[in-house]
Amino acid sequence: MAKPRIEHVCTECGHAALTWQGKCPGCGAWNTLEKRAAAGSKGGTSKGPRSHAGAATPTPLRAVEAERSARVLSGIAEFDRVLGGGMVPGSLVLLGGAPGIGKSTLASMALSNIHASGAPTLYVSGEESAAQIRTRAERLGEAALDVHVIAENSLDAVLATVEAERPAVCVIDSVQTMAVGEGTPGSVAAVREATAGLMDVAKRLDVTMLLIGHVTKEGSLAGPRALEHLVDCVLHFEGERERTFRTLRAVKNRFGATSETGVFEMREGGLVEVADASARFVGEASPAPGSVILCSMEGTRPLLVEVQALVNPTEMVPPRRTATGVDRNRLALVLAVLTRHAGVSLSAADVFVNVAGGIRVDEPGADLAVALAVASAHSGRALETEGRPLACFGEVGLTGELRYVAHAERRVAEARKFGLGRVIAPRPAEGSVDGLAASATLADAVRAAGARGRLSAAA
Ligand code: TYD
Ligand code: MG
Repeated sequence: MAKPRIEHVCTECGHAALTWQGKCPGCGAWNTLEKRAAAGSKGGTSKGPRSHAGAATPTPLRAVEAERSARVLSGIAEFDRVLGGGMVPGSLVLLGGAPGIGKSTLASMALSNIHASGAPTLYVSGEESAAQIRTRAERLGEAALDVHVIAENSLDAVLATVEAERPAVCVIDSVQTMAVGEGTPGSVAAVREATAGLMDVAKRLDVTMLLIGHVTKEGSLAGPRALEHLVDCVLHFEGERERTFRTLRAVKNRFGATSETGVFEMREGGLVEVADASARFVGEASPAPGSVILCSMEGTRPLLVEVQALVNPTEMVPPRRTATGVDRNRLALVLAVLTRHAGVSLSAADVFVNVAGGIRVDEPGADLAVALAVASAHSGRALETEGRPLACFGEVGLTGELRYVAHAERRVAEARKFGLGRVIAPRPAEGSVDGLAASATLADAVRAAGARGRLSAAA
């Protein structure tokens, strides 16, 4: 009969080695390996059935009790909608955004409403003094002054306070300022450890945590990126600081869709929800060459935005390409297709593209709007029908074709609602959509829009 197989298991980390060693290869501890019969080496046959202690009993999902606790509503409709109907009690929500975008303002407003609805709240600020938070709250109205605040950046003190106070909702502003022990706050390790500590109390005491995280202007999320997988929801607050419009987007949501977007405007009394954003943008659109209305989809909601372009002759090599609110690479692709397949030559021109109002559009449907705005600027022809701006949407393919994008009907319906009678777009996947002027290729679309030709001054 064969001897039972022997292994050496570390008492510290559980690492199993075949031979005894002074130092554990798993954790580096000394003299921790102990001799044991290897699991499953019954009488030396490694093939026989293994016996493990403590087997768990799987349950059919049907029999598992689902958590159906009521969500915490912030009273800010756009914020609650992006979260999929409010915050789930005991969850961690990470609110990321560039400095000055309005994260603290949004968090203060949410806490103020939650507090007013009778739930205890706590605002932990590691970057501003209590007096500074008060000054902000004064701008937000009387109710904001009832929120309880501590200016503290020691994680231990924060955790102890949360344990003692048991708030329903707690804001941590910001997670990068939380110091763990003697370590420096803001490092990836510190940010993670702080989040893990906060998650522990959140789950244990059913405290909803709203963590604020900074991202740099370049979009680097060094700290917050490292904790995206730890938290339940990740929201991005975007926009340009100098401009008033802000968009709130869910990029991860364990309890809802990630496609929802909320639109806000920063005003004197805090952030104001912009429910009729389409009306605002269409109203502000200029019927000049280089302007076109894009029927975009922000999650499940159609949104009309103005895309503007400026094409200017230049001696510069290579010429300048500047994109604000649309992806730079997407702009490069669209310009290449315009040149190659629609005869719009841009090699000696600077091209600037901008989405008005500081909105960012992140969907392939924006391609056609970028192309038509550029073609219009290049030709010097304003795109309009009966005095109303032209609307469009669609993805531009590399071979010059227009590609279908989802929700054509809803996009067209939104354009009609705001009096834009003509919408240029790719052919719908099936059937036809009322009010949609379908084009098969980008060249067709440029022709249909009346953006053919070349501005003589730009020649
Ligand atoms: P803040 O919330 O402090 O930004 P963050 O926490 O993301 O760094 O506020 C950003 C800007 O908003 C700040 O420059 C001041 C401005 N603001 C208003 O215009 N109106 C207001 O009512 C408040 C509270 C702030
Ligand atoms: Mg702040």
